[in-house]
Amino acid sequence: MDDRISRRAALMSVAAAAAWATSPARALLGQTHGTLPASVESLLARMSVEEKAGQLTLMAAAWAGGAANALNPISATGTFDTQLADVRAGRLTGVFNGNGAEMAHRMQTVAMRESRLKIPLLFAADVIHGFRTVFPVPLAEAGSFEPALAERTARAAAVEASAAGIDWTFAPMVDIARDQRWGRGVEGAGEDVLLGRMMAAARVRGFQGDRGLAADDAVLACAKHFVAYGAGEGGLDYNSVDVSERTLRDVYFPPFQTAFGEGAQTVMASFNELSGIPATANPWLLDTVLRKEWGFEGLVVSDYTGDMELIGHGFAADAREATRLAFMAGVDMSMQSGFYIDHLPALVSAGAVPMARLDQAVRRVLALKVKLGLFEDPFRRIDPKREKARIRTAPMLALARESARRSIVLLKNDGDLLPLPKRGKRIALIGPFAAGQHDLIGPWNVYGSDADGVDLLTGVRAAVADPTFVTMTLGSGVEQPIPGGIAAAVAAARAADIVVLAIGEGQSMSGEAQSRDAIVVPAPQQALAGAVAATGKPVVVLLRNGRALALEGAALAAPAILVTWFLGSQSGPAIGDILFGAEGPSARLPVSFPYATGQEPYHYDHKSTGRPNPPGDSEPYKAHYREVPNAALFPFGHGLTYGRITYAGLELGDTRMAWDGTLTIRATITNSGTRAAEEVVQLYIHDVAASITRPVRQLKAFRKIALAPGAAQVVTFTLSRADLLFHGVDMSPTVEPGVFNVWIAPSAQAEGVSGTFTLMQA
Ligand code: NOJ
Repeated sequence: MDDRISRRAALMSVAAAAAWATSPARALLGQTHGTLPASVESLLARMSVEEKAGQLTLMAAAWAGGAANALNPISATGTFDTQLADVRAGRLTGVFNGNGAEMAHRMQTVAMRESRLKIPLLFAADVIHGFRTVFPVPLAEAGSFEPALAERTARAAAVEASAAGIDWTFAPMVDIARDQRWGRGVEGAGEDVLLGRMMAAARVRGFQGDRGLAADDAVLACAKHFVAYGAGEGGLDYNSVDVSERTLRDVYFPPFQTAFGEGAQTVMASFNELSGIPATANPWLLDTVLRKEWGFEGLVVSDYTGDMELIGHGFAADAREATRLAFMAGVDMSMQSGFYIDHLPALVSAGAVPMARLDQAVRRVLALKVKLGLFEDPFRRIDPKREKARIRTAPMLALARESARRSIVLLKNDGDLLPLPKRGKRIALIGPFAAGQHDLIGPWNVYGSDADGVDLLTGVRAAVADPTFVTMTLGSGVEQPIPGGIAAAVAAARAADIVVLAIGEGQSMSGEAQSRDAIVVPAPQQALAGAVAATGKPVVVLLRNGRALALEGAALAAPAILVTWFLGSQSGPAIGDILFGAEGPSARLPVSFPYATGQEPYHYDHKSTGRPNPPGDSEPYKAHYREVPNAALFPFGHGLTYGRITYAGLELGDTRMAWDGTLTIRATITNSGTRAAEEVVQLYIHDVAASITRPVRQLKAFRKIALAPGAAQVVTFTLSRADLLFHGVDMSPTVEPGVFNVWIAPSAQAEGVSGTFTLMQA
């Protein structure tokens, strides 16, 4: 922002502040701090029905030509001027995915000076994994198994975003993703419920901070997408979902409940239908469960045109009906369709929507605006100077590098090929991701810029003793071959001692509307991998990916494989840190990598079936595919270190757990290698016989520990009855006495050390 603009902004600010000082909303609400005041009622009483519907209408920002639409289908946002006219007329509660403090300042000034009631606007945005500093995609960061890290990156994102005027983020995305064909798993924490809950909680804490929502660096969190959005048939985005109530309660609900427990006060209804009733018009979901059962008092917002899509679903005949169905089911605020402002007033006057329901929804919006401190100071997050000062600072970039490094998973390391020596070896960097700033920040980033990312070539050259020892050859495009590319890559490989092969998915291959029918490395890159491997040079594969991949051929056969996802602004340096051993890989897979796409949906916590195939070869008439086992190639929780880790000495505090008691379970984890290692020690259980069949394994706890070479550590977990809950025959939380298997293990499929205990009858 230049000085001219800031001076103008400052002048407007003075004028707006004067207008605000005498505004009716200020008179009613100015003295309140964070609680819902009785005066909200007085404000409500002064509002026209149109102004009420306006408070429930959120639109993509039109500023700068509607950049917000780039990540959503094009829809009628209008121009900035028409949007300002709506603000003046009280037809808009706020905008999302706008562009910085200057825009927010201009809009808020109009709201404060020129609207009748001078109710502050709310500025929302998809701040998913960073703002201008981009952190790893959430799926990658979940692999760190460090909720504290996710909390720090969410905090950092909130600090940057809030300075640019953003009050509310459409995050965290807490959808459990059990089908890797679905592209949006990249935005969440993967397939596991416990990890999903812990990451949800961490991100809510991080976004909202610990100084209250009125703090100028607090950003209101929104848990999304409610619910089971990841369970679309065939892994197809937006597709129909038909899961049992029990699976909802056991799998898809818990991360939302955790997010709410941690203080998330908004939730976004998902696009999908749920067993025939779209989530956006589902009274059972939005009222019976969310409000009545869980006591949620916050705000439900539709997803982008979700109410309009009730027509597409074949659930509503027209716009008016769609509005009524969504609103009466419990969607308080409409995003982007304009349906609420267009149809609620008429529905209220026709008696089809009671005024009480309208008031209830408006109250929820005003309550949040109060909590965010907007009635106290509508400009509290709008500060061009702070915007400049808080963005992409050195500590932010250091955190981007740290979080990226700690999200990298080592799948394979045959013959200890990694870490690579920093000197004396000629390295051929090959592949479509070997260089270039595209495909670093991931598919769902509104504010990051390719130009701010540090690529692999730069990171690797900075990490080695002599950068002239590193060559770079693309060899192939992401989905298309490059003429002569393979020949050039083979020549480069022959001239080198080691090949680092950067292959996988481009960032447009995952994210919204990017379902894949085969979760494989695209064929031209597979051909490149084959040709490079045929040179006989040792190959380190660096996978770039927004989901689990079914690896095959030369990509799978390479002696070393690192999963490097989309790691954000500091991708290259972070990968360099791991490749050359400045730090060891410490992340684990948050999603299982299957043998083949046909296994999807695959999740480690599947049921046994009546005919489980025992470990080992496939047996006749047992549950397996003709071609592949009923298992993962690289399971959830898997990840190697540069150390040599062994599990031994399982000790149970007792063989019995009293009904109201606890049970300690410990094992000794040893690093007998010559390098330091960080191990994610995982505790799994299996309920051997229950009135509802139970998963073959379920993660119940984990701990990330650091082990120096030669060090050993006893890791102790404590289980109680609450850890053994499931939703029983009557759908209520149930625990049944009986025998449980327990493992402390390095992955969901590894044996680690195991034992058995019995939960005793009360
Ligand atoms: C649609 C996406 O489903 C949602 O996650 C996002 O927050 C909105 N678009 C707004 O951009």
